[in-house]
Amino acid sequence: MKVHETAFIVSTYRSLHETISKDPYARLWNNDKTNSLLPEIFQQISSKEAILHAIRNRFFLEELTAFFKHHPTGTLINFGAGFSMYQFILPAHIHTIEIDKQPIIEYKKSQIGQWIKDGTLPPRVIDYHAVDFATNTTKEIVAKIAPYIQHTPTFVLLEGVLFFLDTTTTNKLFEVFSLLQKPGDQIGSVSYQPEVASTEVYNRLLHYFDRNNQTNELFAHQTIPSSFYHSINGYTVEKEIDEFTLAATYAPEENILIKEAILNESLYILKRR
Ligand SMILES: C[S@@+](CC[C@H](N)C(=O)[O-])C[C@H]1O[C@@H](n2cnc3c(N)ncnc32)[C@H](O)[C@@H]1O
Repeated sequence: MKVHETAFIVSTYRSLHETISKDPYARLWNNDKTNSLLPEIFQQISSKEAILHAIRNRFFLEELTAFFKHHPTGTLINFGAGFSMYQFILPAHIHTIEIDKQPIIEYKKSQIGQWIKDGTLPPRVIDYHAVDFATNTTKEIVAKIAPYIQHTPTFVLLEGVLFFLDTTTTNKLFEVFSLLQKPGDQIGSVSYQPEVASTEVYNRLLHYFDRNNQTNELFAHQTIPSSFYHSINGYTVEKEIDEFTLAATYAPEENILIKEAILNESLYILKRR
């Protein structure tokens, strides 16, 4: 499995629980290859993976909706955007900058262009940029993205990405954000807390990746303590919540009662000072 294939998987998760994710467009990316992987994932890792990703999407959709209601002229900058479709659910005038590895960006740009043309999707203003967070420098990333931020404030989204990065790349990205953003701008981020690493379900996830890693790409398997977010220069943590807690609000019927039995990610909203 290649890292970018995980983008198809999480998109399919969202499509399986549309009433929770509130993403009616995720299903556009569904495909047989990804569908064939899911039974094994649910059986070997956790049956709650799809619902948790739908909950994660819902949380960020609500945060983005509230942010752009207050700031109708803003820009969404989605780092490691994968196949996320917030831009089509948010109001039409919101400008979106999508950033990911080249194969994802090329495929997404061409598919979205076609779907807007044939009326499957509503028209939107979207810029696409191929960036590798690991190999591109801070300066290169900032130089590439900054000219496209013509509408402020910005909301930077970093969803489902940090697990795959190492500490150096993570620090680089938060430096990039601080250079791109102005006071009042926000970041939405997701990561596993180090405590999750000792759970059986997390170890089943790592084994799954190890067994299915048919490439030379190294999976970094990163966990991040919440103290990291509290110590980022120039930012204040505005919100901090985990999927276990959100499940009680968004999916009480799922009866998710044991935190340690699920792949429980922590979600953060940060504000630039
Ligand atoms: C699990 S997907 C999440 C996609 C999307 N944010 C979502 O939540 O649906 C992880 C994404 O991070 C991207 N990614 C991982 N490592 C990256 C890197 N070094 N540079 C750029 N993108 C990267 C992958 O290509 C993929 O699209």
